[in-house]
Amino acid sequence: MCPPDYFELAYCINPWMKPENKPLKELAEKQWQELYDTICKLGGEVSLLEPVEGLPDLVFTANGGLVKGNKCVIPRFAHKERQGEESVLRRWFESNGYEIYYDPLHAFEGEGDALFAGSRLIGGTGPRTRRESYAGIVKFLDVKELILCELITEHFYHLDTCFCPLDGGKALIYPQAFSSESFTDLENTLDLYTVSKEDAHSFCCNAIVIDKNVVMASGSPDTERTLVALGYNPVTVNLSEFQKSGGSAKCMALYL
Ligand code: ARG
Repeated sequence: MCPPDYFELAYCINPWMKPENKPLKELAEKQWQELYDTICKLGGEVSLLEPVEGLPDLVFTANGGLVKGNKCVIPRFAHKERQGEESVLRRWFESNGYEIYYDPLHAFEGEGDALFAGSRLIGGTGPRTRRESYAGIVKFLDVKELILCELITEHFYHLDTCFCPLDGGKALIYPQAFSSESFTDLENTLDLYTVSKEDAHSFCCNAIVIDKNVVMASGSPDTERTLVALGYNPVTVNLSEFQKSGGSAKCMALYL
């Protein structure tokens, strides 16, 4: 995770970001701290990345890489506004002993768009990540099965905004965010649990899974009920200020 010292709305690169709806600094800091404390309380071990002035979205560390064992794919951001994060992330992973891979030719936004469901890699493509980025990634990480899926809406521009792998081949999904072919491909491989439009817009899929605990933004009672029925423990945190930037719980953490 990365503390939100320099988090602000300095540009608009997704439809949630509106210049007239700026995040409140103190409230954002309080919300980030609550998310951090919640993860620690549930047994999560958190490593921190030092915030950097002028990189307001560095707080969304899910975009900071895709990790398997001691290997990490460094992102190539689609928008120049975030490309300054790349060298910061590269330095962190190098100095923490990771073997790294970086392809500047094809946009790839890390775990924001690529999530492991068991050993399968679900690879989102669309507004941010290019389909072409995956060939090199799959080779580098030695991924045996890749399921590419196409994101077709502007609001659900990253895979982690509309899809959340749980354990045992289960996943939460907002089907409308996917092309119908991609939804069918996912349906054929995973046990999918559909979330409502309202909950999807409250970022219910953007959740951090720690064992049977699912840490997510507050405001998705139906999805909480679904999770409880499946044997999970939903834990909610108010993340309103980060949602003004188009990110919620999962966006603020990268699995190492
Ligand atoms: N403002 C950031 C952007 O548009 C939000 C990133 C959210 N991250 C995520 N993993 N969905 O890039």
